[in-house]
Amino acid sequence: MSAPVYLDHNATTPVDERVLAAMLPFFSARCGNPSSRHEHGRVALAALETARQQVAAAVGAHPTEILFVSSGSEANNLFLKGAAAAYAAYGHPPGTLATSAVEHPCVRNAARQLARQGWRHLELPVDAAGRVTAAGIAAAIREAPALWSVMRANNETGVLQDVAGIARQVREALPEASFHSDAVQAFGKIPLDFRALCAAGVQALTLSAHKIYGPKGAAALVVDKRLELAPLIAGGGQERGLRSGTENVAAIVGFGLAAELAASRLANLARHLEVLRARLEAGLLAQGAMLFGGEAPRLPNTTAFAFAGIEGETLITKLDQAGFAVASGAACSSASPEVSPGLTAMGIPAALARGAVRVSLGADNTRQQIDDFLLALQETRARLRNLAPHATENATNGA
Ligand SMILES: Cc1ncc(COP(=O)(O)O)c(C=O)c1O
Repeated sequence: MSAPVYLDHNATTPVDERVLAAMLPFFSARCGNPSSRHEHGRVALAALETARQQVAAAVGAHPTEILFVSSGSEANNLFLKGAAAAYAAYGHPPGTLATSAVEHPCVRNAARQLARQGWRHLELPVDAAGRVTAAGIAAAIREAPALWSVMRANNETGVLQDVAGIARQVREALPEASFHSDAVQAFGKIPLDFRALCAAGVQALTLSAHKIYGPKGAAALVVDKRLELAPLIAGGGQERGLRSGTENVAAIVGFGLAAELAASRLANLARHLEVLRARLEAGLLAQGAMLFGGEAPRLPNTTAFAFAGIEGETLITKLDQAGFAVASGAACSSASPEVSPGLTAMGIPAALARGAVRVSLGADNTRQQIDDFLLALQETRARLRNLAPHATENATNGA
């Protein structure tokens, strides 16, 4: 049997061979700790600083604005909890924080943790296409949140938010507020310019290596130095005292090169993905699928869809058996297959949202794979339709 076709690049991406080759020496010959004063340490430190320059250059930031952390989840937690702790250090009681209603669980759940400590958590509503509404922003501004987090691109639908526009409005009304954007899914798929975002009022941006053909275990919070943060991890004071712990040098080296490669192939990759996605979506619509967020500007690689009456979990299991790896929602939450809060926020009825399937394309996907996928989908649906209602129910329950 041929290898399964990987169509789940928003969950993670394969490590680019060049990235892997760059990382390998840092597991052995160049194993130094960047804090050590000897030659091995200096080599590791130099590699770390090269990676910092590469990541900074890829998003138009200054190297001193890059804080390396272990994951996008950690970076998002560092912004929310670190900025909340810095706010509290001035003697303020817990304030108000605003996030969009379609954030990744690592933002939503971090905000909920803060809410348990007394913060008021406002969720900015989205319209049927998944975009934060102007009325929602205006209403939130009246509550004067001190912290804001609005993602640049959504992991489930690929829908883009006008982060610069929202940040500009927030800064005009609330110049003291801190504004962050989770750019984990945007990075490597659409241009990101931290200087321009900063000028609009975005003070922090989250990036993650494993979504851009880099390794797991390295990520960054890009931070305007005027933003006050308290560290989540105390220790030896690495990363300007904001993230103690010996750096994951090999992964960070990989992250640096992956970021450089991502920036250099961005335009070509986006064109390739757009062509494939158009082919995929034309095929899906011809089969009667509903697309989620289809009317909004989106990432070039992401399509979320459903067929009325077919559970997403059932469909992805059957497609997996047919040799296609797709997701039934955010990978991180697939262990708890409740209805996606993001799709619910878009007003999608639970019955339809439970049918959600996400295809996220990557650099190595081909037209032939899209055609094969569409055929497999058609055959799978035909087989499911031919099952007795009783049998469909069993399949739906994973029996
Ligand atoms: C939008 C978004 N933010 C944050 C994360 C978390 O990143 P990481 O897997 O590096 O923790 C993900 C991962 O899927 C994501 O899609």
